[in-house]
Amino acid sequence: MKTYKIAAIPGDGIGTEVVAAGVEVLDAIAARDGNIAFKFDHFDWGGEYYKKHGRMMPESGRDQIRKHDSILFGSAGHPEIPDHITLWGLRLAICQPFDQYANVRPTRILPGITSPLRHVTDKELDWVIVRENSEGEYAGVGGRVHQGSPLEAATDVAMFTRAGVERVMRFAFRLARARPRRLLTVVTKSNAQRHAMVMWDEIAAEIAREFPDVTWDKMLVDAMTMRMVMRPASIDTVVATNLHADILSDLAAALAGSLGIAPTGNINPERTFPSMFEPIHGSAFDIMGKGIANPIGTFWSAVMMLEHLGEKPAADRLMAAIERVTADPRCHTPDLGGRARTADVTAAVIDAIHGANQ
Ligand code: IPM
Ligand code: MG
Repeated sequence: MKTYKIAAIPGDGIGTEVVAAGVEVLDAIAARDGNIAFKFDHFDWGGEYYKKHGRMMPESGRDQIRKHDSILFGSAGHPEIPDHITLWGLRLAICQPFDQYANVRPTRILPGITSPLRHVTDKELDWVIVRENSEGEYAGVGGRVHQGSPLEAATDVAMFTRAGVERVMRFAFRLARARPRRLLTVVTKSNAQRHAMVMWDEIAAEIAREFPDVTWDKMLVDAMTMRMVMRPASIDTVVATNLHADILSDLAAALAGSLGIAPTGNINPERTFPSMFEPIHGSAFDIMGKGIANPIGTFWSAVMMLEHLGEKPAADRLMAAIERVTADPRCHTPDLGGRARTADVTAAVIDAIHGANQ
């Protein structure tokens, strides 16, 4: 029996509801599998913790989770705390020091879910966006001067390092090569941003030479939004900077039916540190505590976690259970136009895990 140690960090808002559901579903997968088990350690870090302690997680926080096999994260955000504090104090405080430099965001139209794009079928929208997750526009470099005076000025400097770009390009080309179409689109803005984005393009071309079996093209980020809407089937794997991919992945999730189903993995490919898996949707305070959050984004993130842990059969079984459940409109939460509750969807997925003879 292999036991995985998982750090569960629900964070704020609906994060607590969906992570609790994720834990239940992972336990069900382990029970069904028979050869794996999960030991969850729960951490109460986030906005409420900040209100008591003046920080989002303890100073020793990272040390407490460094040795875990994976992290299951909910969301960070609090109505009474500025967003940049909750983000930098928890999510980025884990992603960046743990060098989770590849943020992987698969997007597909799951069975039973309708894309807002008319006539688009599941086969025509099957993408993976790789988001550079350690630097770029999220490097945190910049400052403010003359605050409160008419001279006030502020900068946010996007930092791109050769090593940082090379490693995320290599990761994306490798991922593209592992997918049937072997097709990669490199998103850029090198027409307007003539330094870092030009280097980004040059490095993409260099790395491409290591992957002669991958077809690749280059797309300006503004044109990419149009292509995603007008010609979704022309896209397969995408690599983009931290901010560009942040924006494109919300569009991708909406085109696939709902932000509520979109998963992500913050991956440290070298496995020096644990990787972190989370739904994209955020804390969603408007629906917090109502029991109607869509847990599918967390379940799909759990699939990514199982894949990362090397538990492919368990990952496939969970994905099949998710797809069986999304196919049934009675299991759709309000974000998908339905009336199901978090607990209904969770119970249905657990039933599908046990019932499925696969
Ligand atoms: C995401 C989110 C975060 C980001 C927010 C919560 C700061 O939108 O994971 O895409 O911009 O990185
Ligand atoms: Mg985002």
